[in-house]
Amino acid sequence: MKVIICKNYDEIARKATSMVIQEIKKNPQLNIGLATGSSPLGLYKNLIDAYKNNEISFSGVTSYNLDEYIGIDRSHPQSYYRFMFENLFKHIDIKPENIHLPNNDLTQIDHIANDYNQILHENPLDLQILGIGSNGHIGFNEPGTPLESETFIVTLDEQTRKDNSRFFKSIEEVPQYAITMGIKNIMYSKKIILIASGKEKAKAIHKMITGKITKEFPASILQLHPDCTIILDHESASQLS
Ligand code: F6R
Repeated sequence: MKVIICKNYDEIARKATSMVIQEIKKNPQLNIGLATGSSPLGLYKNLIDAYKNNEISFSGVTSYNLDEYIGIDRSHPQSYYRFMFENLFKHIDIKPENIHLPNNDLTQIDHIANDYNQILHENPLDLQILGIGSNGHIGFNEPGTPLESETFIVTLDEQTRKDNSRFFKSIEEVPQYAITMGIKNIMYSKKIILIASGKEKAKAIHKMITGKITKEFPASILQLHPDCTIILDHESASQLS
């Protein structure tokens, strides 16, 4: 694991942006795994700026999102589908047919996980962007998820629902289920960049980097990845010695 400590969130976003731009320049047909949530927002904003300044094009890039809620429609303001269009896709030249988010259609619940998994097997990821949950989740691989897991339907941890309730009117509105890439899918990515900022993440970052590798703390598996960069600010890094 390579750990980079930045002075603040803006610097985290700049560092992540330059790494992503470098990967796209190296391989304009990049298969990139994307995360939602607060952590990658600065990165997405900078990528939009880089596209608008003609620094990069996404016309050959293909994206695969980590996860999606189940129980809310794609048109819901808090769906990850909406999040990605509002915060990135609608501002750049990525081709609509190159955008992949897990299908959350309840009428197809018996095969959506297998379908997405198949797509991931056929299109290995070159780069995966990650955030980390305060409980150590990556994607929605909650504590206790087998480290060999592939795309599946997950019952969200109470801690995750509590953390994500900031985006909803109340915790009751936060969906109970989601579809997520598994830990094995994430680990197959050639390169991983994990972004974390703020003191709320300090304990999780300490455990991820220095703790034992265990399914009880899914992000700990990243210690075994051959090319994983963790980009932090001083607050999220505050428990590292
Ligand atoms: C989002 C995802 C989650 C988040 C994590 C951190 O697609 O898979 O694992 O990355 O919950 O969320 P934020 O960045 O909002 O703190």
